[in-house]
Amino acid sequence: MSRPEYFRVAYEINPWMRISHQPNLKKSARQWQELLKVLTRDAKVKVSLVPPVTSCPDLVFTANAGFISGREILASRFRYAERRKEEPHFRRWFNRQGYRVRNIPQGIFFEGEGDLLCHGGQLFLGYRFRSESKVHRVISAWLHERVLPLELVDKRFYHLDTCFLPLNANTLLYYPGAFDAYARRVIQSFAPNPVAVTEKEAVKFVLNGVVAGKTLVTNEGFSTKTKRMIRSQGFRLIELDLSEFHKSGGSAKCLTLYAPARRCDR
Ligand code: ARG
Repeated sequence: MSRPEYFRVAYEINPWMRISHQPNLKKSARQWQELLKVLTRDAKVKVSLVPPVTSCPDLVFTANAGFISGREILASRFRYAERRKEEPHFRRWFNRQGYRVRNIPQGIFFEGEGDLLCHGGQLFLGYRFRSESKVHRVISAWLHERVLPLELVDKRFYHLDTCFLPLNANTLLYYPGAFDAYARRVIQSFAPNPVAVTEKEAVKFVLNGVVAGKTLVTNEGFSTKTKRMIRSQGFRLIELDLSEFHKSGGSAKCLTLYAPARRCDR
């Protein structure tokens, strides 16, 4: 994770961002601190912090740094120049932590775990608004695994992690309206138990949740029915208010990057 010290809306690269609608600094610091507290104290997650950088207000969204597998990271190449400034900072940090940093070939965009998620031992790649579908070959060659590209069609859900939440190897929560018809068919045939949430739930960024063991940490906004389903799977649900980060188009999951010991464990 990375402290929201310089977090602000400095440009508009997704429909949630409005320069005229700035996050409150104190409030975002409090909300972020609460997320950190819940993750470390309640979910028992070990968190490492990447130092914030003045000229990189979106660096708080560490999910977009890349995709980690063991001691290697496939570093992102951001779609927008504004966020491309984060690349050398992330690269240097991971290098210093002893990671082997792998690069994407020139001219291909990839936004890390924001668009690449594992479910039931299968990798899914969201593409169109940020990452490009052709990056699936780079990922496959690196991990020796099949990657299923899913086309995103709703600008509000521009990263896969805003509309696709693997709870465990058995259950996936997703918002069907974010995907094209073919992607929905892929999800339905490859995910053992896909559970659809409504648009009303999805716009509260509920699917941008962090799963740690049997705990799900996310913004409040799940319907009673979905909450019941989550709890019936043995999950404890911790609901937060991350409203300040929604002004930039991100929530709990975007604020974290998962460093799994094994490749695909969800
Ligand atoms: N303002 C950031 C952007 O548009 C938000 C990133 C959210 N990250 C995510 N993994 N969904 O790039």
